[in-house]
Amino acid sequence: MRIVLFGPPGSGKGTQASLLKEKYGAAHISTGDTLREAVANGTEVGLKAKSYMEKGELVPDEVVIAIAKDKLASVGDKGFILDGFPRTIAQAQALDIALSEIGKPLEAVVNLRVDEEELVRRLSGRRVCPGCGEPYHIDTKPAKAEGVCDKCGTALIHRADDQAEAIRNRLKVYNEQTAPVLGYYEKSGILKNIEAVGQISEIHNQIVEAIK
Ligand code: AP5
Repeated sequence: MRIVLFGPPGSGKGTQASLLKEKYGAAHISTGDTLREAVANGTEVGLKAKSYMEKGELVPDEVVIAIAKDKLASVGDKGFILDGFPRTIAQAQALDIALSEIGKPLEAVVNLRVDEEELVRRLSGRRVCPGCGEPYHIDTKPAKAEGVCDKCGTALIHRADDQAEAIRNRLKVYNEQTAPVLGYYEKSGILKNIEAVGQISEIHNQIVEAIK
């Protein structure tokens, strides 16, 4: 499996990546999770990325491309699910070049479509595990024990960029800078559109069907 999960902030990329990883055993590569880890550890990359992330801006291409290449190099034969990368045409082109160099082109780009009102509702109620990255929602996917990850027992957090102003900016940035990447993949014939509103398990089944 070599796929990209594409879609606006809050469309369910992390949620669906986690289910696909469980089903297929592929590596889940989230540039957002890697960047948050770098920020938490105070690394050089983290220091560069922090202010962009807090405002909901994109981190510069050269930083993110280096992270994605590094992660892809360690995947081996088990395949990958890219979540949150690529987000610009330059990132999409760099990904194509990196994968063609190793003879393993993308098989599908799964675009999760969700209207803006629902995105805001999801992001404002989201809680995330900083330990394993598992996403929760206070109404639709609460943790079994309040405030604690079901999978690894870490205390859940409310992300700094899930506050109202940052959410608005992330949606604007998505529409202006990331949505145009869809045109790039439409031309290559590997784009699969999924209406990603409804039960998480039903959306998962639709994705499994689309990438068969
Ligand atoms: P990143 O971490 O990638 O954030 P994002 O794209 O904004 O996506 P999210 O993680 O917010 O949402 P998601 O689609 O994964 O949804 P989730 O499954 O959590 O990036 C963060 C930042 O890092 C960026 O703003 C940027 O600064 C930087 N960055 C990262 N990658 C970059 C790149 N390539 N280039 C440049 N900068 C980059 O679900 C959301 C909520 O909805 C959860 O609470 C979930 O439980 C709930 N939910 C999910 N599915 C459903 C459903 N079907 N029904 C109801 N609720 C649902």
